[in-house]
Amino acid sequence: MKVLVTGGAGFIGSAVNKLLLDQGHQVTVVDDLSKGDQSFVDPRADFQKVSLDDQNTLEKILPGHDAVIHMASFIEVAGSIEQPVEYAQNNIVGTVKLLEAMKVAGVKKMIFSSSATVYGKPTQVPITEEDPLGEQENPYGLTKVAMEQFCKLYHNLHNFDVTLLRYFNPYGPGELHNPETHAIPNFIKSALNKTPIPLYWKGEQVRDFIYIEDLAEAHVLALPLSGLHIYNVGTQTGVKVIDVVNKIFTLLGYEVPIQDLGERKGDVPSLVASSEKIQKELGWKAKVNLDEGLRKTIDFFRSRPSST
Ligand SMILES: NC(=O)c1ccc[n+]([C@@H]2O[C@H](COP(=O)([O-])OP(=O)(O)OC[C@H]3O[C@@H](n4cnc5c(N)ncnc54)[C@H](O)[C@@H]3O)[C@@H](O)[C@H]2O)c1
Repeated sequence: MKVLVTGGAGFIGSAVNKLLLDQGHQVTVVDDLSKGDQSFVDPRADFQKVSLDDQNTLEKILPGHDAVIHMASFIEVAGSIEQPVEYAQNNIVGTVKLLEAMKVAGVKKMIFSSSATVYGKPTQVPITEEDPLGEQENPYGLTKVAMEQFCKLYHNLHNFDVTLLRYFNPYGPGELHNPETHAIPNFIKSALNKTPIPLYWKGEQVRDFIYIEDLAEAHVLALPLSGLHIYNVGTQTGVKVIDVVNKIFTLLGYEVPIQDLGERKGDVPSLVASSEKIQKELGWKAKVNLDEGLRKTIDFFRSRPSST
């Protein structure tokens, strides 16, 4: 297939590109480099430095593609509280412009990067796709809900094939956000630098950590789908954040102090996916367990001391 990946110069997009190319697909990357880096883009892909805001150029690039994997987004929770207008403009309006450009170009298959954040504070874990969407505590989460809804609307109004992939907590080699707001890369970087590990809630929150290559595979498996589909992408295994810290210490063979950051408003106590639906319908299963994934992630940061 010929696939256009928005946000393909970012952490998850670059892994998805690589897998698509390894499996013989053609890839066009659309990214404005507002956050990612062109050096993350596989040289086999056709790179186009374009913003989602530029609907005219999207309409010119899109014809001939079979599907769009839409990952371009601003992703920082705290940043979204400081800049709600920029987040709404970039994420929501950008998505609507992309959908309109797809309609004009006759490209009607969309696989969208959503997030477990759409469930808000879940009433039960593991969370299933049938569980209700929850109240949002920050503009980022609200943009994800709105982006999902626009994708669904284009399914209903214009017969788009739409798959919403709700990621739980992705991690792995290549995670080089700036600023980095995610736990695992920050823990590993602190430990490698022998500085205290910043920890909220004493690490008692439970999360479902999904390794980047397993997450990437879900996108490729979704490509043949038609109609409307929603899948959680998680391992169905909840792990306390403090246990992740301890695993990192074990893998490194030493410990560093913990910096207790107290409680953080908006964090939910537990987010664990039911992944039964994606297992049953797409044959997807997480292959990399947390110990192996952490080891590979530590190796990545060790090999790039300038990133730590
Ligand atoms: N990383 C996570 O933990 C996580 C969890 C759940 C969902 N997601 C979703 O996955 C997607 C990818 O996340 P990531 O961690 O790879 O983020 P990232 O910041 O590494 O990558 C996003 C990319 O999108 C590009 N981009 C942003 N706005 C753009 C625009 N208007 N036009 C063109 N390009 C634009 C950025 O330059 C960047 O390269 C996002 O949609 C995010 O909301 C991420």
